[in-house]
This record gives sequence, C-alpha cells and structure tokens, in this order.
Amino acid sequence: MSIKRIAIAFSGEGSNLEVLIESLHQKTFGDFKVKVVAAITNNPKANGIKRAQKHGIDVIMIDHRAYESREAFDEALVAEIKALDVELMVLAGFMRILTPVYTKQIRSINIHPSLLPAFKGANALERSFDSAEKIAGVTAHFVVEEVDGGEIIMQKSFDKSGMDFETFKEKIHACEHELFPKAVIEVLG
Ligand code: GRF
Repeated sequence: MSIKRIAIAFSGEGSNLEVLIESLHQKTFGDFKVKVVAAITNNPKANGIKRAQKHGIDVIMIDHRAYESREAFDEALVAEIKALDVELMVLAGFMRILTPVYTKQIRSINIHPSLLPAFKGANALERSFDSAEKIAGVTAHFVVEEVDGGEIIMQKSFDKSGMDFETFKEKIHACEHELFPKAVIEVLG
C-alpha cells in the first residue's frame, strides 16, 4: 500500500478544506492511502485554520503581506511545499494569483465556482448567477499561469432557473464539496 502525500492551501472559510480532510485524510482508495500532511494559508484570520487544527492537521502560515512581490511570496510558498514532499497541492479557496515561480514548479489543482472556461477569475459565483445562462456549475482543474486556464479535470452542473442568490450559492458549495475530493482521487490514481 503506497501513501500519497498531499497538502491543501486556503485563504478563508475553509469549507472545501474541511471536506477534503474528512473525505481523504488517512483513507484508502484502491492500492493507495492519502495523507494530508499540512494545510497552508496566507491569511492569519482565515476560519479554515480552526477547521484544519480540529482534525489535527498542521497549519503553515505564509502571510503574503510580509513579501514585497508576488514572486517573493511564491518562492517562500514553493520552499515550504518542497519541504513537505507532496505529490499534489490542492488549492481550496486559495485567493492568490500565482506566478510562474509557483506554477512551473508545483503540480496543483484548484476548484472554481463556474463551468470553465466561462467566468474565469474573480467574482465568478456572482457573474455566473447574474448571467442569462440556465446551466451553472463548478470545475476542478489543473493550475497554470493563466488564472483558471488549466486543463479541466471534472465538472458538475445544475439548472439554476428560479434560484435566489442564497440557494444558488449553497448549491455551488455543495457541488464543490462533492466534486473536489473525487477530482483529487482521479489525479492521484
Ligand atoms: C469556493 O467557492 C471556491 O470555488 C473559491 O473559493 C471558495 C472557497 O470556499 N475558489 P471555502 O473557503 O472552501 O469555504
């Protein structure tokens, strides 16, 4: 039985982080077991810190405000990740634009609250809700230099007709929580 080491980065609420820990950490999938070796955040106030600690996962803090450029922050991030010796980084609401310093060295996947390539970038959830499209959804994808531009791993969609914004938001998060652990297993497998 091999052990597949992953780490999870987050910046805020951490609901995806917690679902990933609960559904993957120390669980067996076929011939491998997943170990979440750490959670990384750039935000000292992130609620996800408590969620990770509740599950006994170490939290590494790299406050982006201590670095004078995106590249300098990414160098610090890459150094921490290399020291963790993980085969995959999972970005779960990690609200940083990553430079090639990061994207060329670290294999990562991300969750995005729209059916990419529609609504790349910030405020995707709001823009997807406001659009005339009937079908909305979420995407798990590889991370490349272009924001939300990497290869799509999996998507989950639903009909948003008649939904108010709160119901829509809840549905998006429920879809993320269902899809993201599956996408991690697919990539690791
Ligand atoms: C999710 O909606 C994700 O799509 C976006 O950031 C949000 C993070 O939520 N990238 P949470 O911190 O996992 O609750």
